[in-house]
Amino acid sequence: MVYSESVIELIKKRTSVRTYAKRPIEGSKFKAMSAFLDENTDNPFGAHVRFALINSKDAPKKPGTYGFIKGAGTYFAGCVKKGGRDMEGFGFAFEKAVLYATELGLGTCWLGGTFRKSAFIRAMEPNDEYLPAVSPLGYAADKKSVVEQAMAAGAGARNRKSQSKLFFDKMIGVPLDEPDGAVKMCLEMVRIGPSASNKQPWRIVRFDGKYHFYLKTNKMYTGNKLFGFCMQRIDMGIAACHFYLAARELGVDGDISFDGPLLLTNGDISTGLTYSFTWG
Ligand SMILES: Cc1cc2nc3c(=O)[nH]c(=O)nc-3n(C[C@H](O)[C@H](O)[C@H](O)COP(=O)(O)O)c2cc1C
Repeated sequence: MVYSESVIELIKKRTSVRTYAKRPIEGSKFKAMSAFLDENTDNPFGAHVRFALINSKDAPKKPGTYGFIKGAGTYFAGCVKKGGRDMEGFGFAFEKAVLYATELGLGTCWLGGTFRKSAFIRAMEPNDEYLPAVSPLGYAADKKSVVEQAMAAGAGARNRKSQSKLFFDKMIGVPLDEPDGAVKMCLEMVRIGPSASNKQPWRIVRFDGKYHFYLKTNKMYTGNKLFGFCMQRIDMGIAACHFYLAARELGVDGDISFDGPLLLTNGDISTGLTYSFTWG
């Protein structure tokens, strides 16, 4: 396991931090994060991911976030080669790094929309790659900025849909009353994860002893229209990351594959549901 703490505890602890203290990141933590980013780009989706740590003061162009993030002097950013399951793989690897930062006691915040791409493009020089997201990195300030307070109140950032709206038995719409043993915890780790605009687009159907993951795309969501890729596919990678790491920690057998049965009805498909991956 890549973490020394329980990953389940890290997933529970993680929350978006948008206001940072002046306290600098210690050299040892900076090095540890940098090494983690270099060594942990692997993912079960076969995506080619790379990361960089960016210090605002050394960057060729100062990173900006339209005022959404206050006080951060450091960011990490990621690129992924275009094609295949690029966004899912990116989401998986980036979330692994977010959880490692959590273990180091550092705050993060996934930013897929509210960051100035140009500064990060200058720093990372993508080549046939997307630069889908970045995150500030640092110590959380004691007091949240006005923007952060407003976001927390407005978007209900800590709210999550109930299990019965997300996890199903044999078909979409029939709540899964009894997940198998430790899988219950793995599903809970998916449920409490971060997602773009907190839309929680993951839907999971247990069928034939396997768990099939679907994306409920929101066609009106601007994040899916603005950047040339579907932002919510990143959320599926985050779901995979949480389920996979929790399953490994709890000794739940299985792996990620892409051979799910055809379970969706035409009605399901018309609501924006598409198959993503299978655990089993
Ligand atoms: C793919 C992705 C993109 C996101 N983009 C932004 C963003 O551009 N700006 C922002 O302030 N938060 C962004 N977020 C953070 C979410 O709003 C946040 O995770 C969600 O509201 C849940 O809150 P929590 O992280 O505190 O649990 C993004 C999250 C994800 C997963």
